[in-house]
Amino acid sequence: MFIALEGIDGSGHTTQARALQKALAAQGRDVYVTAEPSAGPVGKVIRDYLQGRIGNFERFPESLALLFAADRLHHIATEIKPKLEAGIDVICDRYVLSSWVYQGLEVTEDWVRRINQFAPLPDLTLVIDTPLIEAKQRRDLRGSVQEIFETQKIQENIRERYLDLAPSVHAVIVDGSGKSEEVTKRLLDAVVSSRT
Ligand code: TYD
Repeated sequence: MFIALEGIDGSGHTTQARALQKALAAQGRDVYVTAEPSAGPVGKVIRDYLQGRIGNFERFPESLALLFAADRLHHIATEIKPKLEAGIDVICDRYVLSSWVYQGLEVTEDWVRRINQFAPLPDLTLVIDTPLIEAKQRRDLRGSVQEIFETQKIQENIRERYLDLAPSVHAVIVDGSGKSEEVTKRLLDAVVSSRT
């Protein structure tokens, strides 16, 4: 099973990817966790840009969108597909819906979909819907460099876009408020009920 985990910055998707892996492993499943931007060569360029080490794609959102799409195809071919073919479940921390939501802010949505047309849709997309204030507190606690998309106004917009676009990938929206363990439980319930 191929699961994508999504949400605004600070929604806890990275922590929850690990927690969900543990919860599914406890049910006897073999689960691989990965993330986008990936650890591959194109993913590295994207992270360097997002964290301000290299510039400047701000004026070139189409180029950035193509980088995300290129990273994704490389990631699918080198990591995701081989794991799925070996019968291992994959949880991907961010996937195509992130491109539709984030790149769609600046680039025609239809084109973003077209450049991602070779990326297979996951069996299940889970969107962690975290109140903006909680997500901001988490980002502040992390104390790392503020990335390009992390201003509060953009995050507000992004949350709305997630809620609007979720139905187009049949995503399940999971309440991301409260304790981390409670959110994991909700995610696990969503995975289990998607299989029945
Ligand atoms: P990530 O490292 O997951 O950030 P965080 O843990 O802070 O949520 O992702 C980095 C940024 O990349 C994030 O702001 C979302 C953005 N992004 C896109 O714009 N398009 C994409 O296709 C992906 C995968 C991520």
